[in-house]
Order: sequence, then structure tokens, then C-alpha cells
Amino acid sequence: EYDATPFLPARGGLPAHRKAAAECRGCPLYGPATQTVFGQGSPEARLVLVGEQPGDQEDRQGEPFVGPAGRMLHKALAEAGLGDEPVWVTNAVKHFKFSPGERNRRRIHKPPSMREMRACRPWLTAELRLVDPRVVVALGATAGKALMGPSFRVTADRGTPLPWPGHQDAPDPAATAADRVLLATIHPSAILRAEDRDAVYAGFVADLRVAAGLLE
Ligand code: URA
Repeated sequence: EYDATPFLPARGGLPAHRKAAAECRGCPLYGPATQTVFGQGSPEARLVLVGEQPGDQEDRQGEPFVGPAGRMLHKALAEAGLGDEPVWVTNAVKHFKFSPGERNRRRIHKPPSMREMRACRPWLTAELRLVDPRVVVALGATAGKALMGPSFRVTADRGTPLPWPGHQDAPDPAATAADRVLLATIHPSAILRAEDRDAVYAGFVADLRVAAGLLE
């Protein structure tokens, strides 16, 4: 079974984890990808944002949310009053999964499988333990499932604070519902694909405002 666990450092903070994640071979996604894209931001953040996986730009640059979805995310964070809030930004899966695409240029994103998400989760669990945020925002269905389990539905549960899962299989089960909340929303790239962009964007900002309220 795919599993990142053997690649995690036994001790050390975020820098040690970032270094070790660069060598992760816990699932086959490391093969075609350029590099591991570990989380980034303030290690002291009270707010962690979890996406799906790096995109084309992120894979090339080695940083999360630096492409079109990232621009959308940062614009919305500012509009929700979180422009100056220190955040930690990461993904459920740390390698870009793609199919080559036409003329081998624009690589087409492929959603990660449950096996790949499960394999990669020890990295996310470690990041959440080390950053120890008050609020975790799941950006889209993949992040929601990685954090809450495969039956999670973002359409049903977005925009309302949810107790942090305390069960054994959950990321960081040591964190209790009293000290951490999860807020699910859509993935920012869904805005880029939407026909009614303005309405979808407004809904995204409204969800992020709920997250901002939880930090007050
Ligand atoms: N989409 C994601 O989910 N994560 C990124 O880092 C970039 C795009």
C-alpha cells in the first residue's frame, strides 16, 4: 500500500519535514512530477488553508498556490479581511498529478485517488501538528475528504464551522473539537471554471469571512 510514513523524519520542525518531503517516494506521483510542493507560510499561523494538489505552475515553481487558482485565492482572502492574516497554505497531496496533454505543453491536471490522498496524509497531519492552527479551511472536495473522510460532501457542508474530527484515523486526533474548527468551501479554481463567476466568487468570499470571524 502507498504510504509516506517511512519518509517522515522522526523529529524536527517544518524545515526538517520540508527537506524530507522532497525525497518522498510514498506513492508513484513523485515520478512524473518536477518536485514536491510542501506547505508554505507562517509557522505560527492560526489559519491553515488546504488545497487539492499543486497545479502546473506550482509543480514548476515548488510553491503552493502561485498559479491562477492562487491568484484567485489571495484576492478572495484580502476581500474577506484576511489579507494581513498570517496563513499556512498547503495541499492534501504534495505532487502534481497530470496527463501530458496536447503537444506535451500544457499538462492536464488529474484528480488524486483516495489511495494517493491517504498515502500523502502523514505530511498534512505533521504540518497541522507543527503549525497547530485554530482554523483549517478545506478548499474543495479533495481537501474536505482528506481531512474529514471519503463521505465528506463540500456542497452540503460548506460555510459552516465543523468540529475537528477526533477519531483515530483523523489528521491530528490529539487536537480536540474545542481547540480547532474546520471550515469547508469550494476550490478557487471552480470560480475560474464557473459560468456565473461573480456569484461563485461572492460565495467563496462569504465562506472565508466565516473563517475570519472564527479567528476574532
Ligand atoms: N490548486 C491547488 O489545489 N493547490 C495548489 O497549490 C494550486 C492549485
